[in-house]
Amino acid sequence: MKVVKIALLGFGTVSQGAFNLLKDNYELITNRTNVDVQVTKIFVRNPDKYSHITLPAHTTYVTDVNDVLQDDSIDMVVELMGGTTFAKDCVEQALKSGKNVVTANKDLMAEAGPYLLDLASKNNVDLRFEASVLGGIPIIRTLYDSLGGNKITELVGIMNGTTNFILSKMTDEGLGYEEVLKEAQELGYAEADPTADVEGLDAARKLAILASISFNRRIFFEDVTVEGITKIDKTDIAYGKDFGYNIKLLGIAKETNKGLSLNVYPAFVPIQHPLAAVRGSYNAIYIKGNGIDDAMFYGRGAGSLPTGSSVVSDIMEVAKNIDYNATGRLKPFYFDQKNIYAPGK
Ligand code: NDP
Ligand code: HSE
Repeated sequence: MKVVKIALLGFGTVSQGAFNLLKDNYELITNRTNVDVQVTKIFVRNPDKYSHITLPAHTTYVTDVNDVLQDDSIDMVVELMGGTTFAKDCVEQALKSGKNVVTANKDLMAEAGPYLLDLASKNNVDLRFEASVLGGIPIIRTLYDSLGGNKITELVGIMNGTTNFILSKMTDEGLGYEEVLKEAQELGYAEADPTADVEGLDAARKLAILASISFNRRIFFEDVTVEGITKIDKTDIAYGKDFGYNIKLLGIAKETNKGLSLNVYPAFVPIQHPLAAVRGSYNAIYIKGNGIDDAMFYGRGAGSLPTGSSVVSDIMEVAKNIDYNATGRLKPFYFDQKNIYAPGK
């Protein structure tokens, strides 16, 4: 059986979720891929921070990223650090040196996805990013593959777990914004700097990635009109409830007669609408296409194991491609025409 050697970059919430699934479901993963997937290196700044975690004998911590990037035995680099500077350098270098890459980094994919996918193609390797959008919900491959024969006309979704967690707690338990944000951070839902969550920027990045794939167009995060939830208070929530609405932070991409409209904003959603019932760190996305008519996907949008599950699915997909000698075939999402309608811009 082929052995595929992996290095994890970063060992935080998502990385540990992926690592635990690879370890706990080793037999199942090996049976399903027919590949022996081994994490041989984990790049961290300070191994002492992780001394409570028992590693298998074949896994070691390294504190110099070149011990991963210049190691010819590593087939796949799994970038789970976040950010767009150091992480981008690492991903670029990995791809250029013929290593496959899996990442959960939506900031990076929203900013440089097409370039990096091109780079992967040119180097005959895979770059996968299922976990970058909607945590545990399998949506990227669904759009590329399962819905690939549809002309998509509309995406509407709850794309950020932190804000949905906050709004749900404010609605159901009457709690205040600040105390719930703290809880979302403790549970590992929020970004290192939660501004991106609460100001709607994280949802906008995810919308840009999903819309780029769905509408075959290069969409930048800056193309999305964004309003976050920081101005929502208990009065807004109570007012909505009185009239039969829940407030949800929605990401919406829609074809209009002026072009593609892209918006993230807190909206009053009627309580009988399925999106109004999405609670806690869950996300959901409603998709309209000319074949399926409509479909909705629902699941945990953040957290260690749910997001780890998407990372592992990518690792398995890439491992199979390595075994089949079929890496480097995922086409970039970008296209000729930029036709964005963003009200207020
Ligand atoms: P964490 O903050 O929990 O973990 C990040 C890890 O990366 C830590 O081990 C950190 O090390 C390490 N790290 C960060 N910067 C560097 C650096 N410059 N050099 C070396 N190590 C570094 O983040 P998450 O696991 O939550 O997020 C990881 C990625 O996954 C991000 O891109 C995030 O947006 C994305 N994501 C997160 C989800 C979630 O639910 N948390 C869901 C979907 C995507 P140290 O401990 O030393 O700081
Ligand atoms: N901070 C993000 C969220 C993590 O709350 O949705 C998942 O991308």
